[in-house]
Amino acid sequence: MSTDTKNILVEKATTSKIDQIDFDNLKFGSVYTDHMLVCDYKNGVWETPKIVPYQPITLDPSSKIFHYGQSIFEGMKAYKDGNGDIFLFRPLDNHKRFNISAKRMAIPEIPESYFMDGLTTLLELDQEFIPTKKGSSLYIRPFMFASGNGFHASPADEYKFIIACAPSGSYFSGKVKVLIEQTYSRSANGGVGFAKAGGNYAGQFYPTQLAVEKGYDQVIWTDDTEHEYIEEAGAMNIFVRINDTLITAPTSDRILDGITRKSILKLTEDLNIPTEVRKLSVTEVVNAAKDGSLKEMFGAGTAAVISPISGFGYKDTDYVLPELEDSYASKLKNLITDIQYNTSEDKFGWRYKVNK
Ligand code: PLP
Ligand code: COI
Repeated sequence: MSTDTKNILVEKATTSKIDQIDFDNLKFGSVYTDHMLVCDYKNGVWETPKIVPYQPITLDPSSKIFHYGQSIFEGMKAYKDGNGDIFLFRPLDNHKRFNISAKRMAIPEIPESYFMDGLTTLLELDQEFIPTKKGSSLYIRPFMFASGNGFHASPADEYKFIIACAPSGSYFSGKVKVLIEQTYSRSANGGVGFAKAGGNYAGQFYPTQLAVEKGYDQVIWTDDTEHEYIEEAGAMNIFVRINDTLITAPTSDRILDGITRKSILKLTEDLNIPTEVRKLSVTEVVNAAKDGSLKEMFGAGTAAVISPISGFGYKDTDYVLPELEDSYASKLKNLITDIQYNTSEDKFGWRYKVNK
């Protein structure tokens, strides 16, 4: 049966998977809700979005996604407070970035109303799947890819925009040990590093596997010419604290403009934490580790929020970071998650209430 909600066609699942989900032991992104949003781009227009039962997608083997990797995604979370109210965190920024990624990959942009109405309708329908326990949330994965056919190396003429959701626990189980990359690059000037293009992540897997074989959890990406400047931590932006100053690289062609990163920059400004957005060399970090002024390093991104780094490897030497009682990482993580879970004031207007 189809009903019309805000022009979105809704086909409800006949049975629910909710009873199969162990909300006390959630992994990250591995079980999915009952429904998904699907919107097709055909003949130069986005068709009416549909919400359908979560299901596999059938594609022709010549679909361009398989051959030329025209594919982008976003990562967002929904939170539910004690009153059952549902919140997103700065979702319009995700929509904006989605279209920045789309443009770079020659994918048609998706209108804000399709993205936001599609997402909020889906969340209201699957709201029982939004965990309430702090640290857990509903991870939301909007993605868009070339479903059009043909082996010709050119943009497809058809695309699919999908939103799928996964009740999720934390991304990492503890602190991570990282390797400062000296051979491979995640991105390059003029490339697609600033876009959330699927291939950026595929390109990270092999160097990360090599790092894992050496006993590290993640790679710290450095600039593609000299491997001398710190750029990102795995699939996160990176912050380094030297003495009491927090430093992060400026965004560029090569670095994703992270929403967590820019929220941290706003919070440190508000808290008067000395913060610098500037190029940060590996030499400076190694010297700071040697003289004891290196206090903290952490990754920042939607999935992990803030992921503290326990130590790093560089040119066959391991450096261990101190354990701090009052780390910036834990302070900032608490401030951000309190806003996200609606347990604190939202003075920057970052919360977005889903159920009106
Ligand atoms: N850097 C990369 C490469 C990412 O994939 C992400 C994740 O989205 C981030 C940084 C962090 O961005 P955000 O804070 O918007 O999730
Ligand atoms: C993030 O949210 O920090 C991410 O990079 C998402 C990740 C699962 C690719």
